[in-house]
Amino acid sequence: NAMLSWQRTSYHFQPEKNWMNDKKTDLPSMLIGFLKLRQILNASIFTGPLFHMGWYHLFYQYNPDSAVWGNITWGHAVSRDLIHWLYLPLALVPDHWYDINGVWTGSATRLPDGQIVMLYTGDTDESVQVQNLAYPANLSDPLLLDWVKYENNPVLVPPPGIETSEYRDPTTAWTGPDGTWRLTIGSRVNTTIGIALVYQTTNFTTYELLDGLLHAVPGTGMWECVDFYPVAINGSIGLDTSAGGPGIKHVLKASLDDTKLDHYAIGTYDPVKDKWTPDNPEEDVGIGLRVDYGRYYASKSFFDQYKKRRILWGWINETDTEIDNLSKGWASVQSIPRTVLFDNKTGTNILQWPVEEIESLRYNSAEFEKIVIEPGSIVPLDIGTATQLDIFAEFETELLASATEEEGYNCSVGAVDRSTLGPFGLLVLADDSLSELTPIFFRPTNTTNGTLTTYFCADETRSSLAPEVLKLVYGSSVPVLEDEKLSMRVLVDHSIVESFGQGGRRVITSRIYPTEAIYGAARLYLFNNATGVNVTATLKIWQLNSAFIHPFPLVDDI
Ligand code: FRU
Repeated sequence: NAMLSWQRTSYHFQPEKNWMNDKKTDLPSMLIGFLKLRQILNASIFTGPLFHMGWYHLFYQYNPDSAVWGNITWGHAVSRDLIHWLYLPLALVPDHWYDINGVWTGSATRLPDGQIVMLYTGDTDESVQVQNLAYPANLSDPLLLDWVKYENNPVLVPPPGIETSEYRDPTTAWTGPDGTWRLTIGSRVNTTIGIALVYQTTNFTTYELLDGLLHAVPGTGMWECVDFYPVAINGSIGLDTSAGGPGIKHVLKASLDDTKLDHYAIGTYDPVKDKWTPDNPEEDVGIGLRVDYGRYYASKSFFDQYKKRRILWGWINETDTEIDNLSKGWASVQSIPRTVLFDNKTGTNILQWPVEEIESLRYNSAEFEKIVIEPGSIVPLDIGTATQLDIFAEFETELLASATEEEGYNCSVGAVDRSTLGPFGLLVLADDSLSELTPIFFRPTNTTNGTLTTYFCADETRSSLAPEVLKLVYGSSVPVLEDEKLSMRVLVDHSIVESFGQGGRRVITSRIYPTEAIYGAARLYLFNNATGVNVTATLKIWQLNSAFIHPFPLVDDI
């Protein structure tokens, strides 16, 4: 199966089963014994990311036995910069009655005395979801290699009225005004109401379930991987999870088990009543904004106290079949870590942006000034290898014909749909004959009341000649303020395209598997499928190096 090896990404985190075939590595051969133990990544959902003594720690949901979900353990990797990663031995494995069916998603909390506590969901011998406590055996170990499970686990069991199979993924804890800790756990009541329960604790071993809920939204089903964090209304730094007071809003995110989509909303947290209220009830969690409009799920954030930023990561699942995954021997990739800020220009959304460290991978750059793309044309961008790119593109339009009115547009018609005003944008991972291509585009629409709404979309339908692959059109409307040009930043990495519209107001991750537009055959184009506008594009494009993602050379193994 020719689809198997080149789907791998070069700067997104993923374990590397067949690393020994990788010619790039020059690790000493003594390591081979350790490396042989290395296993296969499955559903890699972030679990309690944290920063400790110079290292970013990533724990991920991992199946050591197969490339499909099951036997979930915690994989562990560390990085100095969130881009280059070193794999470490498994951090937590299912070895007690309270987690024997899986060590599921959890979160780290750092206590004021420097202690780290990890709360995670265990699936018990009777398939009951319970919450367990673990902590590092040795805090002075920068690698946090050894973890201890608390002797009296579980510390929380499903309360009355909660299904034993719908009670999981505790968040990072924050302190309330009374100085005690709070944390939230997602669940579901009355068949369809997604909820976030709130617990209070002083010691992380005993807890009180608070009356009422942090929040509930009818029709949204079970909430997985709830994330709850403050954002500064003005300012460019991230906030510790416990930050509160004036000038702060709170983001509530839920991963909807029914649809496998990550939704968030911005609102206000009342720390006395432990209730969160959305700014706009029509854009509540699960019915309004999505964290990412593409292939992306189970995101979590953490506060990076070293660089004072909040970092959000998500899991990018495969879109080919389980059989493909088994024959590849691996499945799933992590998104590029993104900083999260409140967008104080619109006041209605978060801004996500690739962490600045990604820029260290840049080498060749090319600039294109004011390239005119006429209606119905494409323009090749001669940049050399086009499989690992960081692209900034700005578009201006000049109206040639009066725009027709359109109601009810959404991206689903894809890039072939032509109107007066669009679509226009980039064709990434395209081959010379255009047998494969993935348009990332803007699509302004003119409504009957004269307002212009711009959509930001990604069309995967022609991304691959492989038939068994899921290919969708993704996207959403994106706020564009009056004096703004349309802009996008697009990260291309072989089989992943992460597209950030209008400075990160909307993000779309595409998981695509070209069969022709690979390696040296991959090209980049501009296109304009509008009938009534000239589009002028200005671009800056960097080629990106591969990241170093390899096993950690542990002394014990040499
Ligand atoms: C999200 C999720 C979590 C759970 C974990 C199990 O996809 O289902 O709710 O903790 O994965 O691997």
